[in-house]
Amino acid sequence: MNKTPIALIGAGAIGRTHIDRIGRSGTLRLAAIADPTDAGRALAQSLGVPWYADHLGMLEGVKPRGAVVATPNGTHVAVAADCLEHGVAALVEKPVADTVAEAQRLVDAQARTGVPVLVGHHRRHNPISRRAREILQSGRLGRLVAASAMATFLKPDAYFEAAWRRQAGGGPILINLIHDIDLLRFLMGEIESVQAASSNAVRGFAVEDTSAAVLRFASGALGTVLLSDAAASPWCWDFCSGEQEAYPRQQVQSHFIAGTHGSLSLPDLQLWNYRGERSWHAELTLEQSAVHQADPYSQQLQHFKAVIEGSEAPLCSALDGLRTLQATLAVHEAAVSAQSVRLEAGSSQ
Ligand SMILES: NC(=O)c1ccc[n+]([C@@H]2O[C@H](COP(=O)([O-])OP(=O)(O)OC[C@H]3O[C@@H](n4cnc5c(N)ncnc54)[C@H](O)[C@@H]3O)[C@@H](O)[C@H]2O)c1
Repeated sequence: MNKTPIALIGAGAIGRTHIDRIGRSGTLRLAAIADPTDAGRALAQSLGVPWYADHLGMLEGVKPRGAVVATPNGTHVAVAADCLEHGVAALVEKPVADTVAEAQRLVDAQARTGVPVLVGHHRRHNPISRRAREILQSGRLGRLVAASAMATFLKPDAYFEAAWRRQAGGGPILINLIHDIDLLRFLMGEIESVQAASSNAVRGFAVEDTSAAVLRFASGALGTVLLSDAAASPWCWDFCSGEQEAYPRQQVQSHFIAGTHGSLSLPDLQLWNYRGERSWHAELTLEQSAVHQADPYSQQLQHFKAVIEGSEAPLCSALDGLRTLQATLAVHEAAVSAQSVRLEAGSSQ
C-alpha cells in the first residue's frame, strides 16, 4: 500500500509523539523533519528521513501531502500558512495561535487556498468523546441544561523552574484549560459569554494556579469549569480518560452533562434518565455505554489522512481552533477584569 507522506515541523515533545504514531500507523510515513536544532537533525538521521533547518526548505524539497505543525505557539500561523500556500494540508497543534487575530489569519488563508487545516485538539478523537457527542446529538438527554468540568491536578515544583511558567500567559488556563473548553464546545456547542475568577494564592507567582469559570452557551445552557494545578486531586480528563500514558489512570469522572431528559458523565459514559414519570421523586435508571479504547493521537492522524484525501471534513477546523482559543482567552480576561466577557463570532471568510 502507498503510505501517505507526512512531514513533521517541530520535533520537540509532542512532535516526537506524532512521529511515534506515524510510525505505528501502517498508512502514513514520515517524509521529513524540519527543526533547526541539533537534536532535530540527529532524530532525522536516526530515522533515516531528510532533515531541514526550516520548513520552507522542506516544503520545497519534499512536497509532502500533509505536515504536522508542532512548533511553539507563536509560530503556528506563519508556518501553517506557508504549508497551505504550498498546497500542503496542515495539522496544527493547539492552541491554533497566540491571539484571535492571528487565528483569523489562518482561517482566512485556509478559505483562500482551499487547503485543509486540522487543529490538534486531540480529545475530540477519543472514542469516549465521540460517543458522548453522538448520545447528546441523539436527543436522549433532551434539551441540554448544564455542564460541569473538573481539571484539578498537581504540577511538581520542578515544573516551575522555567521562568515563563511563572509568568502571566504561561499558566494552566492556556496550557490545560483550553482542552476542557474545546471538549465542552465539541459536546455542548458555541460559548456565548464567560465569567471567571483566578487565584495565585498557593504559589504566589504572577501566573494563576487556580481558576473558576462560568460559561453561557449559545443554547442557553450554563457550564462551570474548575481548574487548579496546585491541587492534590485525581479529577481531570488526562488522569481518568486513560489517554495519557504519563499519568497513572484514576477511576473517577471529570465531565458531567445534564439535560431535561437525562444526564451523562465522562469518561465512564454513564447515562441517567427516568423510564416513566420525570420527577425528582421517581427512580432514575442507569445505562452504561462501552467503547473500544483508542489512542486519540493515532485516531487524529488517521482522520488527518482522510481530511487530506477529501473524504472527511476536519473534526476541528481552523475556525474551531479560533473559537476555542477565544473562549479560553476570555476566561483570563474575565478573571482580570471581573467582568463578563461576550464572545464575538469568528468569521469563516
Ligand atoms: N495536543 C497535545 O497534547 C499537546 C501536548 C504538548 C504540546 N502541545 C503543543 O505543541 C506545541 C509544541 O509543544 P512542545 O511541548 O512539543 O514544545 P517543545 O519546545 O518540546 O518543541 C518545539 C520544537 O519546535 C522546534 N521549533 C521551534 N521553532 C521552529 C520553527 N520555526 N520551525 C521548525 N521547528 C521549530 C524547536 O526546536 C523544538 O524542537 C505547542 O504549541 C504546544 O501547545 C500539544
